[in-house]
Amino acid sequence: MQKTSITDLLQSEKTGIDVSVKGWVRTFRANRFIALNDGSTINNIQCVIDFENTNEAILKRITTGSAISIHGILEESQGRGQSVEIKVSKIEILGDSNPEEYPIQPKKHSFEFLRENAHLRVRTNTFGAVMRVRSALSFAVHKYFTENGFYNLHTPIITGSDAEGAGEMFRVSTLDPINPPKNEEGKVDYSKDFFGKETNLTVSGQLEAETYAMALGKVYTFGPTFRAENSNTTRHLAEFWMIEPEVAFNDLDANMDLAEDFIQNIIEYVLDICKDDLAFLNDRFVKEESQKPSLQRSEWTLLEKLQFVLDNSFKRVSYTEAFDILRNSKPNKKKKFEYVLDKWGADLQSEHERYLVEKHFKCPVILFDYPANIKAFYMRLNEDGKTVRAMDVLFPGIGEIVGGSQREERLDVLKEKIKALDIDEKELWWYIDTRRFGTAVHSGFGLGFERLVQFVTGMNNIRDVIPFPRTPDNAEF
Ligand code: 4AD
Ligand code: MG
Repeated sequence: MQKTSITDLLQSEKTGIDVSVKGWVRTFRANRFIALNDGSTINNIQCVIDFENTNEAILKRITTGSAISIHGILEESQGRGQSVEIKVSKIEILGDSNPEEYPIQPKKHSFEFLRENAHLRVRTNTFGAVMRVRSALSFAVHKYFTENGFYNLHTPIITGSDAEGAGEMFRVSTLDPINPPKNEEGKVDYSKDFFGKETNLTVSGQLEAETYAMALGKVYTFGPTFRAENSNTTRHLAEFWMIEPEVAFNDLDANMDLAEDFIQNIIEYVLDICKDDLAFLNDRFVKEESQKPSLQRSEWTLLEKLQFVLDNSFKRVSYTEAFDILRNSKPNKKKKFEYVLDKWGADLQSEHERYLVEKHFKCPVILFDYPANIKAFYMRLNEDGKTVRAMDVLFPGIGEIVGGSQREERLDVLKEKIKALDIDEKELWWYIDTRRFGTAVHSGFGLGFERLVQFVTGMNNIRDVIPFPRTPDNAEF
């Protein structure tokens, strides 16, 4: 008999049929009721055994975490909480799980404990739900771009350039770390390294994506990115996934329109596809919030927050306007911010971003036209000579979720900026070439995938929305 998934069985309109399922035991009570889960849905199927006719040795081996195979008849359930259950005729233990040693017991575990058991935590309801939603979001990204005429582009993971100019890169090298070859100046001679030059893991696929947008028109990347920034926060990972669309002939306004439409579209998709998981995560979120002090508590449920993002356009505000709001805000005047804002040109911290979104505008915000000196070299300089056509999308509870810009398409201005920032022009010869041959207005942005998953699932810590998080001092698994 063919094995059926639990999600199909729970939706089955027929009863009285022979069925076969395989999965892992969540709980076993009264020597009679097995709650079985196979990952196809957050819901378990109840399997009822006739214990008088079941071998005692087998009964003992039905423990939380064990893998079993069940044959039986699908029946209308007698008990509450489920519409169907399986009356077991045959049970087979596929893999034992010693209850004395299995860490994931049917009780509430702390997220810290579960992070230490990241290889098993997906067997809990919360992590199962988060990872199914993550998978659906990933599919929604590809679906959106494909349906809107974009080409998916695989940009290199090993590169020689630092796209963001922040110098937060992981080196890739095959040189002997103890005794590397040295040049005449006594420095490590990277010309002897594998690629004949210094290389690192990419911090962004943008520069390569720009060259492809100049031929394919609309492209996007969706790949891993790496940043060696020593930020131990709930929003930073050393390895994360980024989605980067790049569009020829789009100016900054069109770029903002794209970001907004894209985010709304993929959230709408998962609201439809992941109903059970999101209902579970919504309950979890509400419970968690109710334990916070009232001032920190979210006024909304998770589902209300998601619906709000769908129903409302994002507020667009220039950096200068936002800066004035922040400078004159209560927490700034009372020095409640960790970084008190004083002079125009200062970079905004997450506390400022969240004030704008959560307290002032109470909706997602797109900030644009940032001071040139706090943004990367490739952003288009405005006529005022001080600001660039940058945009950041800020979300409640998250802060920055998207960073993007209209790109500097003018060869002379781009070269000036590269020089001013002391970047080696020779390293970027291929990037500069796009401005020499058929240059055009173009724009793009980067969406941090894990920050999006955080927002959609209501998880507080970014380490809990990626299977195996990489953070400072942590690369287990
Ligand atoms: O703002 P960022 O640095 O922008 C870029 O890398 C541009 N090249 C994107 C582009 O225009 N094509 O990063 C983009 C987004 C951020 O808004 C944030 O959501 C996420 O990537 N991000 C991180 N997510 C998790 N951990 C980190 N350490 C992150 N750094 C950035
Ligand atoms: Mg940014």
